[in-house]
Amino acid sequence: MVPRSTSEVAPTFTPAAGDNPVPRHVAIIMDGNGRWASARGLPRAEGHRRGVEALRRTVRAAGELGIEVLTIFSFSAENWSRPAAEITELMGLLRRFIRNDLAELHGAGVRVRVIGERNGLDPDIRRLLEEAEELTRDNARITLVVAFNYGARQEIARAARRVAEAVARGEIAPEAITAELIATKLDLADLPDPDLIIRTSGEQRLSNFLLWQAAYSELVFVPIFWPDFDRVALENALAEYRRRERRFGGLVARTGS
Ligand code: IPE
Ligand code: IPE
Ligand code: MG
Repeated sequence: MVPRSTSEVAPTFTPAAGDNPVPRHVAIIMDGNGRWASARGLPRAEGHRRGVEALRRTVRAAGELGIEVLTIFSFSAENWSRPAAEITELMGLLRRFIRNDLAELHGAGVRVRVIGERNGLDPDIRRLLEEAEELTRDNARITLVVAFNYGARQEIARAARRVAEAVARGEIAPEAITAELIATKLDLADLPDPDLIIRTSGEQRLSNFLLWQAAYSELVFVPIFWPDFDRVALENALAEYRRRERRFGGLVARTGS
């Protein structure tokens, strides 16, 4: 079966008092571009291009819905194992996205942050990412975190290295290493953990995304391919989140429902 957009069939999201509030931080694993294209007899690259349009819609909708932080998984540390032509296409799309959309994102009050390993990226891409962060650093409407060349295990390893270096310099004792301390060394140390992680395409796994920060995230798996994702699909995921009971290991839900 070819999953399709929910827009014709889904009910509209209406906030209700007493349920989980709008999540502060939503993270999305934007998956299924290739299958979206294959299902239509199109090259995978076309799926990636249409995926950028879904991203534009989603950033706009997230800002309108009052989400504070939107994190998107754009390219994983493991995606280098794809064919060279597909990698070139994905790198080109990132370049074009920043060149074409940065001014509009800035105008809309979007603060752009980038997480992942910068070493190994083309110098011009690194410059574009830095430029996007620099230009938008004081914006406050919504923070868009772009996970690019990102892997959660690699992020945790980088954090562990920073802690080890501090121990080696004698700045902290090994006994002082706590989960809270490690969290301060992660790429998203200053942002809240994701309340909600959405994955499109029907796959039900994290694929090395935000493993540390996902400890108590609600997971919503959406059976549509990323290029079909839209405001209604986001609203439906938020509605699902609202119904969830978050207990954080305790016995009482944090917010009633
Ligand atoms: C998501 O779509 C985009 C990236 C991972 C870069 P995919 O390219 O993974 O599409 P499928 O999963 O093969 O359909
Ligand atoms: C996860 O999707 C990475 C991104 C969405 C950028 P993948 O398509 O790479 O994940 P797997 O390989 O199906 O687990
Ligand atoms: Mg995929």
